[in-house]
Amino acid sequence: MRNVFYRILILVIIIEILFAIFWPPGLWTLVLIVPIFLIGLRDVANKRQTIRKNFPVLGNIRYLLESIRPEIMQYFVETDTEGRPINRIFRSLIYQRAKKQTDTTPFGTQSDVYKSGYEWLAHSVYAIQDRKMDHDPKVRIGSKDCKQPYDCSLYNISAMSYGSLSKNAVMALNGGAKIGGFFHNTGEGAISPFHIEHGGDLVWQIGTGYFGCRNKEGEFDIEKFTENAVRPTVKMIEIKISQGAKPGHGGILPAVKNTEEIAAIRGVEPHTTVFSPPGHSAFSNADELIQFIKKLREASGGKPVGFKLCIGRRGEFKDFCRAMIKHDTTPDFITVDGGEGGTGAAPVEFSNSLGMPLRDGLAFVHDTLIGYGLRKEIKLIASGKIMTGFHMIRAMALGADVCTSARAMMLALGCIQALQCNSNTCPVGVATQNKMLMNGLNVEDKKQRVANFQKGTIHSFVELLAAAGIPDSSQVERRYINRRVDMTRICTYEELYPSIQEGSLID
Ligand SMILES: Cc1cc2nc3c(=O)[nH]c(=O)nc-3n(C[C@H](O)[C@H](O)[C@H](O)COP(=O)(O)O)c2cc1C
Ligand code: SF4
Repeated sequence: MRNVFYRILILVIIIEILFAIFWPPGLWTLVLIVPIFLIGLRDVANKRQTIRKNFPVLGNIRYLLESIRPEIMQYFVETDTEGRPINRIFRSLIYQRAKKQTDTTPFGTQSDVYKSGYEWLAHSVYAIQDRKMDHDPKVRIGSKDCKQPYDCSLYNISAMSYGSLSKNAVMALNGGAKIGGFFHNTGEGAISPFHIEHGGDLVWQIGTGYFGCRNKEGEFDIEKFTENAVRPTVKMIEIKISQGAKPGHGGILPAVKNTEEIAAIRGVEPHTTVFSPPGHSAFSNADELIQFIKKLREASGGKPVGFKLCIGRRGEFKDFCRAMIKHDTTPDFITVDGGEGGTGAAPVEFSNSLGMPLRDGLAFVHDTLIGYGLRKEIKLIASGKIMTGFHMIRAMALGADVCTSARAMMLALGCIQALQCNSNTCPVGVATQNKMLMNGLNVEDKKQRVANFQKGTIHSFVELLAAAGIPDSSQVERRYINRRVDMTRICTYEELYPSIQEGSLID
């Protein structure tokens, strides 16, 4: 192919010389031909890409098609139920709810209701009238040791840092939280001015990098912690132990996104890739974790303190429970994240092959807390593809008190699932630090969309509760959720995840 390229090159040079001699206007063809030949020469000279070297000029078509593959798949190939990680049905529903457009569907379900894995809620003959339902339900978070309990909405914004998201995205999320009265988790990248400006309730997350409460060596600093924890908009504090998309791997802030401003907020070197350590230096066993929680609660003036994890080894969680009993104190909440969870950037193996999926992890955590007689003190928050009212009910059947979402909120902000969150080129200004791209995200418009989406989802959740004759979310039981396990067999969640007796694990 390279020889063909050289032959064509010689042929074109001869033709151009003839043009120059007999018909000078023909030289205008050089405008097109010269750039093509320069590309060809660059391809032949390159030492890294064999396709370009062997097939100069033509080889570039392969790279062009590869670069627009996600868009072609999304716009022309994928069906409504197929898109990954979030299929078109859910994406459209989120956009519709965010824009307050019609969110009903015509002609019936597109799901195959005889396929294994299909799930549904058992409705009731005794459906409850809409006016008798609470349309803004809240759950109080705060154990016996907590002095400032928080009345929490049932659907909130999951952890995403400023750095991973743009400042406009952070402001729009926080503004949405303020309008709708739900919380906004800061993510592990510290509290930035953009988390504060709109006054929405914050859950301040502390990861292994201790951003916002670290000393020069990168270790936990109690004084800096107190300065931030007592801020009035900080309603709860979450220690991040792990996240479903990359459990056992610290956060990653790519160098292209680590601007001077972000580096100053986090207390790190700008323009370098920042890896948070995989584990905490403030505690190294279950006893120390429980004492750390106690310390943070005291230093924050008694605000609810909890931790977030994706379940790995079951025995380690049981150790936490035994330590809670030993020290007679519990976290105020535990956030269970599923292996299906999202991230700004993670190694592929960590995303694909580590971490218990949400439904299994949630049922395990709920049952273990019941088994150790600790469940009444601790509220459970669930995250992992919870995007609709049904997803919320399903999580609650397995033990969740409260749900959160990261990617559904990003979609409400205008994310088009272009899957470039780790490359600073997010076309809609959500996950980028590129000023030109982020300026396209209108905070005033998008904060209202975030609030609309959250409200629409809660509305659908309450309507489903009413249809199932369930007066409030604390009464959702496993027996109400059905799953087809094969063509002729249906199991309830109670059969799949059998409940256990209160206190049965204590001995
Ligand atoms: C862009 C992005 C950034 C995230 N950053 C954090 C983080 O800083 N801390 C954390 O605990 N989880 C982080 N997560 C995980 C989410 O908080 C959440 O646990 C996970 O995505 C599951 O929710 P989802 O399926 O609704 O997205 C991030 C997720 C995304 C998509
Ligand atoms: S549109 Fe932006 S936020 Fe959404 S997936 Fe793509 S890069 Fe990430």
